[in-house]
Amino acid sequence: MRLIIRDDTNTAADYVAEYIIERINTFAPTAEKPFVLGLPTGSSPVPIYSALVTAHSMGRISFRHVVTFNMDEYVGLPREHPESYYTFMHENLFNHVDVDSDNINILNGNAPDLQEECTMYEAKIHKYGGIQLFLGGVGSDGHIAFNEPGSSLSSRTRLKSLAYETMLANARFFNGDMSLVPRMALTVGVQTIMNAKEVVIIATGASKALAIQSAIEGGVNHMCTLSCLQLHPCSLVVVDQDATMEL
Ligand code: GLP
Repeated sequence: MRLIIRDDTNTAADYVAEYIIERINTFAPTAEKPFVLGLPTGSSPVPIYSALVTAHSMGRISFRHVVTFNMDEYVGLPREHPESYYTFMHENLFNHVDVDSDNINILNGNAPDLQEECTMYEAKIHKYGGIQLFLGGVGSDGHIAFNEPGSSLSSRTRLKSLAYETMLANARFFNGDMSLVPRMALTVGVQTIMNAKEVVIIATGASKALAIQSAIEGGVNHMCTLSCLQLHPCSLVVVDQDATMEL
């Protein structure tokens, strides 16, 4: 696990955006050999997506042969809901770049059979030969995707109930009303993320400092699922100064 420290949110986000651009361009994806990119939601990746959109408008990066897999999606929220991760991804990235809509994969939290939806998602990732680079954020309790404290480190894509702390943190997107926050989500598992060839995590702000300290200086454990990246052969954690306060 490598730790990269930048001054602030924007410089950390720019570092990650340039890292992704370099990886995709070096890979030189084609229709037969696409680049498979795992993507997160949350506020942390927003400036990364904005930097990628700018780079795309300057002709520095194309998503034409990039296949995307999102980490998670709420259960029961209509796809068109302003806070669904489907809407988030389209508003922040997909609507502004040349990604092929057939190459976008987001878990369907309204699927009639949620278990089947998760099994098919894993199978599709496998069909593409796995994820090349998984970008992720981290919750203030150290969760990645929706792998809440207590999640099995060998978990795969599945239905997960959200921790109270996560619902509290996400209530800000639902007019601060906890009762509007979905209680369940579909999420890739810890092992799904660990199977990616490379994992890049962005964590900015003082609210992430304890999670970063626990994930980097603590032992590998299921109460802070980010900590499992200590075991990943190629993982990068990019933070700003505020997120290093407990190190
Ligand atoms: C949610 C998402 C995570 C994300 C986390 C942190 O729980 N499922 O993938 O990392 O929020 O979000 P933020 O970046 O807004 O702090």
